[in-house]
Amino acid sequence: MGKITDALKKAAQERLARIEKMDKKSEIRYEFIARKKVDSNIDPRIVSFHDPKSPVAEQYRTLRTNIQAIDSKSPIKAITITSSIHGEGKTITAINLAISMAHDLNKKDILLIDADLRRARISKYLGFQAEQGLTELVSDGLNVDEALINIGIDNLTILPAGRIPHNPAELIGSVKMHNLIKLLKSKYHYIIFDSPPVIPVTDAGLLGAQTDGVIMVIRAERTQKGVVEHSQGLLRQAQAKLLGYILTNIQYHIPAYIYRYL
Ligand SMILES: Nc1ncnc2c1ncn2[C@@H]1O[C@H](COP(=O)(O)OP(=O)(O)OP(=O)(O)O)[C@@H](O)[C@H]1O
Ligand SMILES: [Mg+2]
Repeated sequence: MGKITDALKKAAQERLARIEKMDKKSEIRYEFIARKKVDSNIDPRIVSFHDPKSPVAEQYRTLRTNIQAIDSKSPIKAITITSSIHGEGKTITAINLAISMAHDLNKKDILLIDADLRRARISKYLGFQAEQGLTELVSDGLNVDEALINIGIDNLTILPAGRIPHNPAELIGSVKMHNLIKLLKSKYHYIIFDSPPVIPVTDAGLLGAQTDGVIMVIRAERTQKGVVEHSQGLLRQAQAKLLGYILTNIQYHIPAYIYRYL
């Protein structure tokens, strides 16, 4: 009996060690968690779509709840997602948050806007192609309805970036953009803007000032405190209201593969 228990214990320990080794090798821990739906073009990192019951998707739900709970004089409807520098997880956060809101907010209409007119990636992560989007709305006077995309997720509409303009910051800071945001706020319950990082370019500050607030994504164990403080200063200068922070790349103490089944 003792021998069997020992053997089982040993097997379990070996399995745990194997999973931990796999996790260490993996750059993006939560890729283990998403179960990609076979017939979907959506990137597996969009866990709110592929694996809504996973702990990671649960984190996006918590974020959504926290946003709803923000105590503010005027309602928080339009939110800019940004970060200090490139590659901190802004776009994946914006998409997962928007899907989480669309799934769970009692049929409220959510609009996800790709306002990163420099490195637009929302269409790539969501697996669709779009010829026109925000750039065409603001600079060519395209009709809003012609640019909006529905990818079959209830309550979620997407406004892709469109072509890469030569003057992204000017477009984002323009009166036309301001009027567009006003119009869209009257039609949607929540608008989530994905944007470029704060330090290299001014777009996110300009957008932050025109929306109801900014959420900053910080990549744990990479982005230095001083860098985050610098971005805070830039957002303040731009008169953007900082609503809060999201930490990405958090390491679980329990290996992610096991964590999913807890
Ligand atoms: N919560 C997370 N935890 C760990 N890794 C993440 C997380 N979110 C995103 N990543 C990884 O970080 C990388 C960049 O993600 P993403 O494209 O969302 O970043 P970004 O901030 O939008 O980048 P860019 O500045 O180029 O627009 C991707 O490889 C993604 O898998
Ligand atoms: Mg991005």
